[in-house]
Amino acid sequence: MGLTTGCRLAYVAGLILAVMGILGAHGGSLTQAPAVSLLKIPVAGSRRKPPVKFSHRVHEARRVACTQCHHDFQGRRNVWQEGQPVAKCQTCHGLRPEARRLDLKNAYHRQCKGCHLRLRQQGRQAGPIECQACHRPT
Ligand code: HEC
Ligand code: HEC
Ligand code: HEC
Ligand code: HEC
Repeated sequence: MGLTTGCRLAYVAGLILAVMGILGAHGGSLTQAPAVSLLKIPVAGSRRKPPVKFSHRVHEARRVACTQCHHDFQGRRNVWQEGQPVAKCQTCHGLRPEARRLDLKNAYHRQCKGCHLRLRQQGRQAGPIECQACHRPT
């Protein structure tokens, strides 16, 4: 290759720094809500439903508080507050249920459909509960 060992070492070090830079830019936890997220559980085996588009904007416009969805429990108390970094749901909710933590799919369904259903029962405007309204094939 014609590279001296020193050159090669410098090249490798540069590559590592570049990769760390990329991870640094995307790997840290965020505090600001993205407008729209594509929710996609890394299911074992093949997916049964198309992934779900979730709009922070729609929910913010409807005055749904951040703490309705984001939490960090100490005992029974949610100590997470707006402005603090947000951990992804899958950080705590795995593919299998664990202790009092629901598995990821049920965590999403309980939270998303749960609220939509509650609001409907109260006769208020709510999001969908039909499968294909959330799992939209594109
Ligand atoms: C109706 C539910 C809901 C509400 C209300 C909500 N969020 Fe989220 N938020 C989510 C979901 C679901 C995700 C995606 C989580 C994931 O990918 O694991 C998310 C992701 C995020 C992320 C990105 C996390 C990451 O690393 O990708 C941030 C930051 C965030 N929300 C902040 C906020 C803030 C601030 C508010 C209030 C202004 C808010 N959210 C309100 C459901 C909600
Ligand atoms: C820091 C860890 C952590 C993160 C991140 C987290 N959860 Fe949880 N979640 C828990 C724990 C622990 C419980 C059990 C609380 C209890 O009942 O003691 C729980 C309970 C729940 C419940 C049942 C109780 C309730 O509030 O209705 C739902 C639904 C839920 N989580 C959905 C989600 C969703 C959706 C996300 C991502 C937007 C998320 N969780 C992010 C730890 C977490
Ligand atoms: C605390 C209550 C609450 C929670 C939790 C919640 N929603 Fe909603 N959702 C609403 C309300 C209110 C609307 C607005 C209804 C309207 O304006 O017609 C809505 C609207 C929607 C819509 C229709 C508008 C659009 O963006 O296309 C979708 C889809 C949706 N929600 C998906 C989700 C998903 C996915 C989650 C879980 C990550 C979730 N929602 C969690 C209350 C909630
Ligand atoms: C309010 C929105 C909403 C509704 C309604 C909804 N889901 Fe989901 N569902 C989600 C979210 C969010 C996830 C996690 C993201 C993903 O992987 O698609 C999920 C995940 C899943 C998964 C695991 C991922 C996969 O494709 O294997 C299955 C299976 C599923 N849902 C089936 C259903 C069925 C069946 C219905 C109707 C009875 C339904 N969902 C209704 C929001 C919804």
